[in-house]
Formats: sequence, C-alpha cells, structure tokens
Amino acid sequence: MSGTDRAAVVAGLGVWVPPGVVTNDALAQQLDTSDEWIRSRTGIGRRHIIAPGESSGDLAVEAGRRALKSAGTDHADVVVVATSTPDRPCPATAPEVASRLGLTGVGAFDVGAVCTGFVYALGVSAGLIESGFASTALVIGADTFSTILNPSDRATRAVFGDGAGAVVLRGGAPSEHGALKGLHLGSDGTRSRLIEVAAGGSRQRSTGLPPDEADTYFTMEGRAVFAEAVRHMTASVQETADRLGWATADIDKVVLHQANARILAAIAERIGVGSERFPSNIDRVGNTVAASIPLVLADANSSGELQAGQKVVLGGFGGGLSWGSVGLVWPDISTC
Ligand code: ACO
Repeated sequence: MSGTDRAAVVAGLGVWVPPGVVTNDALAQQLDTSDEWIRSRTGIGRRHIIAPGESSGDLAVEAGRRALKSAGTDHADVVVVATSTPDRPCPATAPEVASRLGLTGVGAFDVGAVCTGFVYALGVSAGLIESGFASTALVIGADTFSTILNPSDRATRAVFGDGAGAVVLRGGAPSEHGALKGLHLGSDGTRSRLIEVAAGGSRQRSTGLPPDEADTYFTMEGRAVFAEAVRHMTASVQETADRLGWATADIDKVVLHQANARILAAIAERIGVGSERFPSNIDRVGNTVAASIPLVLADANSSGELQAGQKVVLGGFGGGLSWGSVGLVWPDISTC
C-alpha cells in the first residue's frame, strides 16, 4: 500500500460465532422493544452471544485456527487482535491467543479502534509485511460486546452481537488478487464521547473513587453516530477508490462494517452504487464490532455473492471516532 513492490495478500479467511442465539422476540421478553422495531430500525433479526465464562480470546482462537486452515498453514510471524473487549484490561489478548494457536514466540499485540479495528489491524499488518518484518500475519477481529452492555439499555442490546473473524496475510506482489491497496485511515478525537465506556480506565481510576455503575457500561449516542458513520464511511470508500484509480461504479462489492442496514442503504445512495453491491449479514449476527467485516466477507464468499476477480472495498467506522477503508481484487479462497 506504500507503493513498494511487495504487498500483503489475503491468503485465508476463518470465522466463528458462539452457538448461543438471542432473537428479537427473546429480547422483547426482557425489555420494552419488539421484533418489528428492531428489524425496521436496524435490519437485525438475531445475534450470537457467548456463554458465561467465555471471552473474546476464545472466539479469536477459533477464528484464527480456521483462517490458518483456510490458508493451508499452521504458522504466522505476527498475530494482531483487533478488540475493544479484551479478556482483561492488561495484558493484551493477542499473546495468549497466539500461544493457544501454537505460536508462542511470535510478535503479538492488540489494536483498539472499536468497529474500525479490523481495518486498522489490516493496515498495520500489511505495513509489517511490506517492510519485510513479517512474511505472514494472522489478523483477527474479535469482540464480545454482550459483556459491556447495560442490561437495561434497549438501544444497544438490540444492536450488538458477539463474534470473531480472521484473515491470513502473506507477502506477495501488488498485482496479485488479494493484495491490499489504497488504505485510508481517519479519526476525530473531538467526538470521542459519542461512543464510550467511561469508567475502568486511568482517568476514572485515578480519582480513587468507585465508578458510577452506569459508567461501567458501553454507551452510544445513536443518532449522532448514525450521521457520522454515513458521512465518514462514504468519504473513506470514495478516498480508497480514488487512490486506486477506480470509479465508484467500477467497485463490484462494498463490504462495510455492519452497524445498521439503514446506514448501508444511505451510503449506497450517496456513493451511487446499488444496494445489491453491499453484502450484508446484519440480520443474522447484528453489529459484531471488530469481527463484523470478516464475518460478512465469509458469508459473501461462501454464498458466491463475492467472486474471485471482483473489485472490493472494505470499510469501517466506529468509536474514537475512527474510520478507514482498503481495497483489493478478491482472491480465490475458501472460508473455514
Ligand atoms: N426498541 C424500541 N424502542 C427503542 C429501541 C428499541 N430497541 N432503541 C431505542 N428506542 C427508542 C428510543 O428510546 C427513542 O425513544 P424516545 O423517542 O421515546 O426517546 C426512540 O426509539 C428513537 O431513538 P433513537 O436512538 O433516535 O433511535 P434510532 O432510530 O436512531 O435507532 C440505533 C437507534 C439503532 C442505535 C441507531 O441510532 C444506530 O444504528 N446508530 C448507529 C450505530 C452505529 O453506527 N454504530 C457503529 C459504531 S459502534 C462502535 O464503534 C462500537
């Protein structure tokens, strides 16, 4: 992506969602909501939720194992885990995930960019490959937002689900199918309060006072976030297309973070590309944060909606605020 003659190439794709399912009707038995409200406002029908005692790291290990299998390898020089729900606040989740995959000794670290985490992790990992530091990278997005939602908040509980997805990147040539290119990353820290868990970090803990319970949960100003998501994902996809010399009409598939079906429709309208070019699985998994993009890629690849040789732009938006996009010509891979 830096214009070198070495590129990071997508060589494998693996995903995992926990078996536990919570339908809209099940949520409506606990909260003042309905299947009709959730479907019409978000496009979501159900979401997967971890069992007690499970963690983001557990999901990351399973997705990582499957991505390695998909790539036909058992090795990676570096393991990067994008997550905002790490197994513990300290240390990072990635080293333990790497060891559980038999990769003790390799570079391993977390990337925290909330729903943009997977795009940021792809960018960092591609840079390590392009620079010659690594020959292969395992890039995992894993989140379990069910662990940080306020049980009484119908807006966030309707939206988020748990899951993990991973790709293996290998060194290759920029002209190959699967080569990542046209990376664009952005952020706006002046709006960080729109999406946050206020307590549990150094700012709150240094007060020496116990946190208010409400501050220990994830909060989101839904309407403002909606508008920002549409604005920044639209601009970022267009920026990546410009960097690649692609007209937006030439993009075969726009694979975006699955935050809300109405956000995807609004972006399709602004870009001027039909909604059928925006693969979506939000009805089955909800917003799975850093896992969202690989999960929708896997579904579209398995169903044949995504075909080898198609021009694809991946894009994300989330807390930070943060956003980003990257392009590739889709490779011939099977999902595990
Ligand atoms: N069931 C019934 N009513 C609800 C529900 C629900 N599940 N959730 C909210 N409402 C109510 C609200 O209480 C409010 O009622 P009021 O008017 O009486 O106060 C009304 O619906 C409208 O609330 P809004 O928040 O304005 O609803 P909106 O249509 O915006 O939908 C949603 C909320 C789904 C969260 C939407 O704003 C959204 O998708 N925002 C963007 C999310 C996003 O992009 N996230 C990506 C980043 S997230 C990250 O990085 C982790």
